[in-house]
Amino acid sequence: MIRFEFPPSFLWGAASSSFQIEGAAEEGGRGPSIWDAAARDYPERFWNGHSPQTAADFYHHFVEDIKGMKELGLTSFRLSLSWSRIIPQGLGEINEAGLIFYDQVINELLAAGIEPFVDLYHWDLPQALSDNGGFKNPQIVTDFARYAEICFKRFGDRVKRWSTMNEPSVMAFASYRDGVYPPFETDMESALLAAHHMILMHYEAVRMYRSLGLTGEIGAVIAVVPVYPHTHSPNDRAAAQRQFDFVCGWWLQPMLEGSYPASVLECPEVGALMPAAFRQQLLQSFEPMDMIGLNYYSPARCAYDPAAFLQATDVRNFYAQSDYGFLTYPQGFYDILVYVKEKYNNPKVYITENGIGQDTVNQETERLLQDDERISYVREHLRELSRAIRQGCNVHGYYHWSYLDDYEATSGYRYRFGLVHVDFLTQSRAFKRSWYYYQSVITERAVD
Ligand code: NOJ
Repeated sequence: MIRFEFPPSFLWGAASSSFQIEGAAEEGGRGPSIWDAAARDYPERFWNGHSPQTAADFYHHFVEDIKGMKELGLTSFRLSLSWSRIIPQGLGEINEAGLIFYDQVINELLAAGIEPFVDLYHWDLPQALSDNGGFKNPQIVTDFARYAEICFKRFGDRVKRWSTMNEPSVMAFASYRDGVYPPFETDMESALLAAHHMILMHYEAVRMYRSLGLTGEIGAVIAVVPVYPHTHSPNDRAAAQRQFDFVCGWWLQPMLEGSYPASVLECPEVGALMPAAFRQQLLQSFEPMDMIGLNYYSPARCAYDPAAFLQATDVRNFYAQSDYGFLTYPQGFYDILVYVKEKYNNPKVYITENGIGQDTVNQETERLLQDDERISYVREHLRELSRAIRQGCNVHGYYHWSYLDDYEATSGYRYRFGLVHVDFLTQSRAFKRSWYYYQSVITERAVD
């Protein structure tokens, strides 16, 4: 019978981000991030007015949580650093207590034999920087390079895998075009400007890392969505490619090759709104990275529509939909990995996120703990990942999203993604059935 195996050096991980698990938003000298301020000022934009002030209280529970990770058999844990815990106003004074907190977490992980994979930035901009124009202000590039320098100098001796940022596509477009994440703006030109600055921030941080003589790996985490054409017509195929080029290629190509996809630039609704000197800036600052993190959740299906943005529109599909709203299609995982391999010369990849959210509405805790749906999800995605590796894809690790039930942007505590159940009132932890399943996968290095 077939078994789907993984190489001995493969990293078995789980993922998290600072504002989604830490809590302790006003402790240890931390400044407010955009999420604290937005949940306070616009509670109606958050499910049940939930704020990330307490989250899963990892700040006070990290020792217990890392003990659980060790028992699970994790060989790596993905976490992000909170910029506003380290530099409370985004620029200016450094908060030593914040650095000490991350020292403790990193040391605890290493003592447990778990390698930290650290994102410098996972969506939680210091509010003070947002007040100053956020990602629309070119000053962010310099401010981020300084923040990166502080983190690299402090933790670079122990952290060997770094990502500059998580899912910039969401950071730019949910925040500045779609108006759903702070600062809730709805202007395409601003979103493109913010996105461009994110690319420049990424280049500068990678350059900073190298200039310090550090020898680990650095890259970025990009959300990938395989976009399938509605039919085989040339128009539908080109539309699907354009949509992919905008949603994913817009990040993969500049970060891997130093340019934006021509198929999108050719469309006036993007090309005409680009910042004046963008080509020259890419040319001057491009800095290639060592590896790329890919987050995979959902596919899309797209058709040609002359009236739509980029002449591409989403069409009805028959993928299964999970509670959270993501479409579940494990085969898409294989397809996107093979695509990245072929299109970008087989870069070194980590799967930095993949997982499923359960709705808590009308749901018993017992049912949340017996999460068979998550077990099937993990098994089926790992099968596809194993097939992709056998096909030659250069993938070196898998991080399940997430280790703990967490705070989700704008839906708060409604959906649960964790392998570990968190009671957000008492902060007590319980391993879900999927935690035990993942433990068996790690032990056997295989799924069936
Ligand atoms: C991707 C994001 O990186 C993460 O912050 C989020 O919680 C998960 N998707 C699930 O929605």
